[in-house]
Amino acid sequence: MQYISESQKMPFIIRVPVITDAARALAYIRDVCGETEFLNLSPEDIKFSLKEEKEYLEKMTTGSNSMLFIAEIKGEIAGIVSINGVQTIRRRHIGILGLSVKKECWNRGIGTALLEKILGWVKENTLLKKIMLHVHEKNDRAIRLYRKYGFIQEGLLRMDRYTGGEYHNTIVMGLMLD
Ligand SMILES: CC(C)(COP(=O)(O)OP(=O)(O)OC[C@H]1O[C@@H](n2cnc3c(N)ncnc32)[C@H](O)[C@@H]1OP(=O)(O)O)[C@@H](O)C(=O)NCCC(=O)NCCS
Repeated sequence: MQYISESQKMPFIIRVPVITDAARALAYIRDVCGETEFLNLSPEDIKFSLKEEKEYLEKMTTGSNSMLFIAEIKGEIAGIVSINGVQTIRRRHIGILGLSVKKECWNRGIGTALLEKILGWVKENTLLKKIMLHVHEKNDRAIRLYRKYGFIQEGLLRMDRYTGGEYHNTIVMGLMLD
C-alpha cells in the first residue's frame, strides 16, 4: 500500500519484508541504533550475521503471533515496526512492540502509519490479547504517539538504561485488545 505524507509530498510504501531484504534490514538497524539513544541496542550490540537476520525475518513474518513491516522510500528502508509474540503457552497472548524510523525521515507520518499498520494486523490476530512496549522516559515523541493509540503506562523500571553518561528509567506501556 502506498502512503503519501501531505506535508512533505514524500511517498512511502509499507510492506512485509522478504528474505532478500535481510542485508538492507541489517544495515538499517545498525544505522538507526547509532542515530538515537532511545533504542535499547547500540550499534556495537548488532552482531547478527546475515544468515541470522534472514532467519529472524522468516520467523517474524510467518509466526502465529509475530509480524514485521517495513516502510520504504525509493527502495530504501525508512522504518520498521514489529510485534514479537511471546512463545510460552501461558504468555503467548502478549506481543512486544518495536518501532523505529530513520532520523532523516522523522515527522513525515511514517511512525504513525507503521503503528496503524501493525495494530490493524494485531486486530485480525486470534492469539494476541495484549501489546506491551518499553520506552525511554525522555522519549516524548514516542510516548505521545503510543498514548494517542491507547497505550497506557503500566510500570516504571528504574535505572534501566545507561545513555548520555546517565542512568535513565524505562516506562512500560500496555494496550489491551478487545
Ligand atoms: C518515535 C518515532 C518512531 C516516531 O516516528 P515519526 O515518523 O517521526 O512519527 P510521526 O511523524 O508519525 O509523528 C508522531 C508524533 O510525534 C509528534 N512529535 C514530533 N516531535 C515531537 C516532540 N519533540 N515531542 C513530542 N511529540 C513530537 C508528532 O507531532 C506526531 O504526533 P501528532 O500526529 O499528534 O502531531 C521516531 O521518532 C523514532 O524512530 N525515534 C527513534 C526510535 C524510537 O524512539 N523508537 C521508539 C522506541 S519505544
